Amino acid sequence: MAQTQIHIFDTTLRDGEQVPGCKLNTAQKIAIAQSLETLGVDIIEAGFPISSPGDFQSVRAVAQHVRHATVCALSRAVENDIKTAAEALEGAKHPRIHTGIGVSDIHIKYKLRTTPQDILQRAAAAVRYAKSFVEDVEFYAEDAGRADNEFLARVLEVAIENGATVLNIPDTTGYCLPHQYGAKIAYLMANVRGIHKAILSTHCHNDLGLATANAIAGVEAGARQIECTINGIGERAGNTALEEVVMILRQHADMNFYTNVNTRLLNPVSHQVSETMGMPVQPNKAIVGANAFAHSSGIHQDGVIKKRETYEIIDPFEVGVDHSKIVLTARSGRAALAYRAKCIGIDLMKDELDQVYTEFLLVADRKKEVNDDDLRVLCAQLVNQSVSQLVG
Ligand code: KIV
Ligand code: ZN
Repeated sequence: MAQTQIHIFDTTLRDGEQVPGCKLNTAQKIAIAQSLETLGVDIIEAGFPISSPGDFQSVRAVAQHVRHATVCALSRAVENDIKTAAEALEGAKHPRIHTGIGVSDIHIKYKLRTTPQDILQRAAAAVRYAKSFVEDVEFYAEDAGRADNEFLARVLEVAIENGATVLNIPDTTGYCLPHQYGAKIAYLMANVRGIHKAILSTHCHNDLGLATANAIAGVEAGARQIECTINGIGERAGNTALEEVVMILRQHADMNFYTNVNTRLLNPVSHQVSETMGMPVQPNKAIVGANAFAHSSGIHQDGVIKKRETYEIIDPFEVGVDHSKIVLTARSGRAALAYRAKCIGIDLMKDELDQVYTEFLLVADRKKEVNDDDLRVLCAQLVNQSVSQLVG
């Protein structure tokens, strides 16, 4: 069966950069955009041009540097925002304007202080105006996750009628459960007039730790674009992590989806983003965390040494990591100790291993991790002991 492409829309430079302390200058944005393009993402959301002159410059520079991917700029459903986004995108080979408005009751009543009827009119006008600048217009229905599905469908119909070809369904507050988000996408696929003229996009926040699961549920229900960020950074608890959705679709080939991402670049790009933004990646982060391919308990280590696949579903090489790590801790067993000793050039016979292991456990109980230097000292002590026994 032919596989279906899922478009990867990276918003590291927009939603990701909104994280306090992660602001980037123009040169940094260009460097990351170039890496994203090499990584193979389809769309790069470069920023929110109306937000500041600096961001306008950055979007403009990214638009001029990126040649293959689509470069997207965010705007509210406000004429001046849209015009400014269009100006920033002038040099882009493939420009996209991303415009939209809040659609949940709480956004309409308290944030926008208006009526559903007015939202329909503003959505129509915004898409129409954006369309006067670029062919490729994406419409976002902010807080779609908590919006009434019937009203959401009417807003999307208006967006399609005015020329939007991508419809973003953000779970802005990260509220939905995967089955709810999936059902929402399925409802829209079945109930929006003209839906065949557009594709649905997921944009899921991680407030309940469900951003990745929700994006995948959306794809299973018919969405064909995922909005995501490197390392899952983004407002509050972050967004769907690019590396996670890409690897889920790849590892579950029976789902019959593919992306254009070169997975071997996932770890290098993750490091680049983390270092440039000064935003460390949690060690247990899937795919790109320092411990994603590290094994420390004796039972797991023994299995991995015998056959890596016993405890790893991904070959680290496929995501740009040199090799799995066997970490020596007080929970490690003899197999791991012998393996690590061998890695540093020391072959331990069975009785030698028993002796070093006893000493190793004493050190491991004192230290969190026993490193190569500690191991060399432990092995050298064994040799010294044997020599002194011989001499004595
Ligand atoms: O989370 C959200 O709703 C957004 C939109 C602006 C797309 O980031
Ligand atoms: Zn967002």
